[in-house]
Amino acid sequence: MGFRHRAPFSLWTKAPTVVGMDETIPFLESPPEPTAPPAAVQTYNLAKTYRTGFWLNQIVTPLQGVDLTVQQGETFGLLGPNGAGKTTLLKMLLGITRPSQGRATVLGRPVGDRALKHRIGYLPENPYFYDSLTGWEFLQYTAGLFGIPAAVQRRRIPELLDQVQLPQSAARKKQLRKYSKGMLQRIGLAQALINDPDLVFLDEPMSGLDPMGRHMVREVILNLKAQGKTLFFNSHVLSDVEAICDRVAILHQGKMVCTGSLEDLLGRPNQYFARGRGGRLEILEKWLVDLTFERGFWQGYLQGDPYDFLSTVRGMGGSLDTLQLARHSLEDFFLARIREAEAPAEATRPQRQIP
Ligand SMILES: Nc1ncnc2c1ncn2[C@@H]1O[C@H](COP(=O)(O)OP(=O)(O)OP(=O)(O)O)[C@@H](O)[C@H]1O
Ligand SMILES: [Mg+2]
Repeated sequence: MGFRHRAPFSLWTKAPTVVGMDETIPFLESPPEPTAPPAAVQTYNLAKTYRTGFWLNQIVTPLQGVDLTVQQGETFGLLGPNGAGKTTLLKMLLGITRPSQGRATVLGRPVGDRALKHRIGYLPENPYFYDSLTGWEFLQYTAGLFGIPAAVQRRRIPELLDQVQLPQSAARKKQLRKYSKGMLQRIGLAQALINDPDLVFLDEPMSGLDPMGRHMVREVILNLKAQGKTLFFNSHVLSDVEAICDRVAILHQGKMVCTGSLEDLLGRPNQYFARGRGGRLEILEKWLVDLTFERGFWQGYLQGDPYDFLSTVRGMGGSLDTLQLARHSLEDFFLARIREAEAPAEATRPQRQIP
């Protein structure tokens, strides 16, 4: 019996004849492209302008042409100094603030789409709580907004309280007006997760928390990450961001300064820093990234084998002063990028010859 090879018609791009076989066997010229899931967040040239002042004659531009992509399943940290525009960007992605220019999609749908709301969780920077409610009642209220049945609420609320480490007794008895800052932050985080969202936006989730609270937030985020959820959060606690994020972006005065994975931005964990003097610029440039010169020394981050580099330096008549494992901390990297962004262009231009 002849070999029959059948596949759905749409798979085949061409059906050429294969000589020497008793029937025509179409073959696949190129494998079908798997359809990629839509990005969790995609922004195109997003900008926001506010008119302020008594006569509305002062213009504030918290965001200036931001292009950003966050893929589903990523844990993404948005960093930036106070007033950089982080909360403004988050509010736009949630449809709370309208862009003055550009557009954005969330989970492949235009921002503000009603169907999106069921798939999104949000912890605002300064959440407003109905403070006469107890924590439990507040969670019941937010669950009700999502139409979560009472039976599911009875299971879900205690689970969430456990996750955010808020005692059930406090949640049941105490009104929110009697909660401490850290307790409010915990109840805010619980409400952000009440609908079991696919994408969670957290604006300063570590804010106001003690070290145990910060650890709890990290655990909650890592747990969500393990479930394949997408997390998009702002934080000033850079050590936590470094520990949990896949990718980060730095926003400064409404503009993206850089975006990338931690490895792209900070270097591989086993990267070396080299410092020395003498030698030839064109050779050093091949071996070192971020090459700079200062007081007779060159320095940069080594790309390649350290032993080979050592012999190269000797071979070109130079000397190696320092060779050490180096990875910038996210904090150092952040401060350097912000200083660069603030310094006039002339001052940051690297010196290109060995003094
Ligand atoms: N409704 C508004 N009207 C006028 N200006 C605004 C408004 N909202 C925000 N801004 C301004 O936009 C800029 C960015 O504010 P935003 O809250 O987005 O900063 P941020 O990066 O979240 O800062 P932080 O780290 O302090 O939370 C600030 O200068 C702020 O004063
Ligand atoms: Mg903010």
